[in-house]
Amino acid sequence: MTSTRPAATTHAGPAASPEAVPSEAVGPLMRGIAVLRAISDAGGRAALSDLVRTTGLARSTADRIAATLARMGYLRLDSHSVALTPRLMELGNAFLGALRFPALLAPLAEQLAEELDESVSLAVPDADGIRFVHQTTRRRAMSLTFRIGDLLPAERTAPGPLFAADWDEREWARWRERRAADPEDRGFPAVPPRGADPGGSDPGGLGFEERTARAAERGWGLDDQLIEPGLIALAVPVRDADGRTVCAVSAVSHTSRHSADSLRRSLLPRVREAVAGMERTLRTAAPASPAAPAGLADWTSASKQQLGAEFLESLARGLTVVTAFGEGRPELTLTAVAEATGLARATARRALITLEHLGLAVAEDRTFRLTPRVLALGYPPLSRTTLPEIATPHLTALVKKVHDSASLAVLTGDDIQYTARVATGRIMSVNITLGTRFPAYAASMGRVLLAALPPQERAARLAHTEPRALTPRTVTGRAELAALLERAERDGYALVDEELEEGLRSLAVPVRDRAGRAVAAVNVAMHSSRRSVERCLTDVLPELRATAGSIEADLHIAGRFSRIPAA
Ligand code: PHB
Repeated sequence: MTSTRPAATTHAGPAASPEAVPSEAVGPLMRGIAVLRAISDAGGRAALSDLVRTTGLARSTADRIAATLARMGYLRLDSHSVALTPRLMELGNAFLGALRFPALLAPLAEQLAEELDESVSLAVPDADGIRFVHQTTRRRAMSLTFRIGDLLPAERTAPGPLFAADWDEREWARWRERRAADPEDRGFPAVPPRGADPGGSDPGGLGFEERTARAAERGWGLDDQLIEPGLIALAVPVRDADGRTVCAVSAVSHTSRHSADSLRRSLLPRVREAVAGMERTLRTAAPASPAAPAGLADWTSASKQQLGAEFLESLARGLTVVTAFGEGRPELTLTAVAEATGLARATARRALITLEHLGLAVAEDRTFRLTPRVLALGYPPLSRTTLPEIATPHLTALVKKVHDSASLAVLTGDDIQYTARVATGRIMSVNITLGTRFPAYAASMGRVLLAALPPQERAARLAHTEPRALTPRTVTGRAELAALLERAERDGYALVDEELEEGLRSLAVPVRDRAGRAVAAVNVAMHSSRRSVERCLTDVLPELRATAGSIEADLHIAGRFSRIPAA
């Protein structure tokens, strides 16, 4: 395989010195993973022709891989390009769930960020790099922001020296080899390349080995503008009950607010206090109850029958093996993987050997576990997804079925605001663009969102709105509106007929997050002459509900470890 960025394959491939491909490795799985990584590095979307170029695969091979991944729901295929879908995050979720501490420590990291009014992240060691497993979103516009799954060269970060303190001679040799092979960090797409003068990004000329020794001694690591001018960070290790460093907490600031010295003086005590709380949480957490694995083997066989040669069964099965891991299932034997996936032992074994060869899994004492590198399969771009981005493809599919416009909106104050919309070719009198607001009481999406509020809040909203008659049919009586909201809550939908505008009928259902909160609503809007109210309920409502269900399924996967903005 060739790559236009040879440096990327040195650190991100199997190792600095490439190991021979094991004879039992599954070719289609290796190539499929190369495709996922390439699209991830390209920002989550790529033209098929560029993919062929960056991966060195034959076009026909790339097409079959794309068809298989699309069938698995991991990719969306347009005529000439491919885009990663939120569903793909289930692979990274398997790793993060197995790791457990991102879920346990995230609330404490958020609390620390709030208290410091600075960004806080959690990172784990990944070979000679660090990889983020949690990020708060407090960063100001001034500097670069990193995403969950981004990989940074250890020597340019605050947590790096804390992790390097545990390196043995072999690991230091690997690091030196990588530095020599990739002096500008081209293999780390998340960071700006080093300038021509490598000493320039190591102020004071203190080498990484020396900084590592100091960090180990002091128990904290510092990044004084090693990534980019202005960006400074302070990191403290978090240890588990056995004293092993499981991750590092970084507090990130900017030279406009702190010098490296003042960052340490003012933040270190509070970061340490938070870390002590995190270590207590790790010690006292009840064991995770094992999540049910996906078990997709039957499904892949059915897809093979439908798609024939276009479906690469061994790729689908290999990726299914990743989903055997998860919360309460961090380390699995071959037998457990075969049981969880429904795959034959020989198939599961070859998939595990392949994942191990690619550095996505490690084997120890007859058990396997995933590595942070699994996050390189799409997590960084996908963790920045928004609800409108998640919803749009599903709205497009809905519009193709019902031939009327579909939208997504959120509640802001007394209004709903449109955040995504897919129009039909039909000419409608209402010209709704993104950002358009309507009074919630007179709109179908507003009704389901008001209906989803806790009873007291719903009553308070109704009490202070002044419903106006926007058409002769607008319901303006508070008692009548309250009854309509109750009905919307009971039915799970709202139909609003010519109350917002004459001739406009709209049907809406809520979109709920993992916790069951209605974070948005979706609707279909049509001219009232298009179909009867009854047909609306029999023909459109089931499709609309299915669409909300698909959006929710994506949102629940994407929102497991990332905060997905509703707008
Ligand atoms: C970050 O969380 O964005 C971060 C962490 C450590 C660094 C730099 C940035 O050294």
